[in-house]
Amino acid sequence: MTDDTKRGKGADGAPVAVVTGASRGIGAGLASYFASQGLRLGLCARTEPTSPAGADAVTAVVDVGDAAAVDRFADEVVDRFGRIDLWVNNAGVLEPVGPLADADPAALERHVATNILGVMHGTAAFARHVRGRAGEGSLVNISSGAAATPYRGWAAYCASKAAVEMVTEVVGLEEAASGLLAYSVSPGVVDTDMQALTRATPADVFPDVGRFLRLHEEGAFLTPDWVGECILERCLDPATRWRPVAGQGLVHFRVPDGPTTG
Ligand SMILES: NC(=O)c1ccc[n+]([C@@H]2O[C@H](COP(=O)([O-])OP(=O)(O)OC[C@H]3O[C@@H](n4cnc5c(N)ncnc54)[C@H](OP(=O)(O)O)[C@@H]3O)[C@@H](O)[C@H]2O)c1
Repeated sequence: MTDDTKRGKGADGAPVAVVTGASRGIGAGLASYFASQGLRLGLCARTEPTSPAGADAVTAVVDVGDAAAVDRFADEVVDRFGRIDLWVNNAGVLEPVGPLADADPAALERHVATNILGVMHGTAAFARHVRGRAGEGSLVNISSGAAATPYRGWAAYCASKAAVEMVTEVVGLEEAASGLLAYSVSPGVVDTDMQALTRATPADVFPDVGRFLRLHEEGAFLTPDWVGECILERCLDPATRWRPVAGQGLVHFRVPDGPTTG
């Protein structure tokens, strides 16, 4: 394998990665790491993401809950680069936090629109793209340990991340014949605005806050670069990427322990 193909580079040049929710946090970190590895980028969020220095990037203002806007963005990236090799549905919100019985229904709808419909819209746009071109394509949906662990105060978040897992698996089965490889990835704990919001939540609203305060004291946060490195190695690089076991629709993994910010 040549260096050109090592990172999923095809005959057309460097691979193209889309990252939603790339204006800050893990998404901005992934964009920066992918750019450092020579990938071309499509980046979106409700606030226009900043293109990493020296990167060849399409940036756009997109609310992932708006299916038509997601489709326009996908078209814009394909118009610019010719194809998309990796699509990371990273955009997500934590709120509303607190007992479900006290939640504002409008806040619940906003949550579902971003964390479930947003992932569905991005997944569908990428699946149609992969159907229409030669070769495989890697779909990475960002999940969380909360998909499988019930945290009091996080009913919406736990439910939406569990939904992300199932959407990923079903679409992985539906689109396997067209070359779509589906991954759900729990990024571990990364220090972002979402983590700051978690730490700032009172214990009577989020009883597990102590765990996140301790992680902060210990500096036990994974770096976004490490998350990006694991995604490229396990989901994109044809020489090393993991594949679903026969009959299963997805590969799920939590980013392993690695470099921390502490
Ligand atoms: N941080 C962690 O430890 C951790 C752990 C497990 C899983 N995760 C997951 O990792 C992902 C990123 O989290 P983070 O910690 O980086 O959060 P963050 O710092 O709050 O960043 C969230 C990103 O999503 C974007 N976003 C939110 N709603 C959007 C919408 N409707 N349309 C488009 N973009 C939207 C935000 O940009 P705008 O506000 O500009 O739209 C921002 O770029 C999320 O899916 C989260 O659930 C994080």
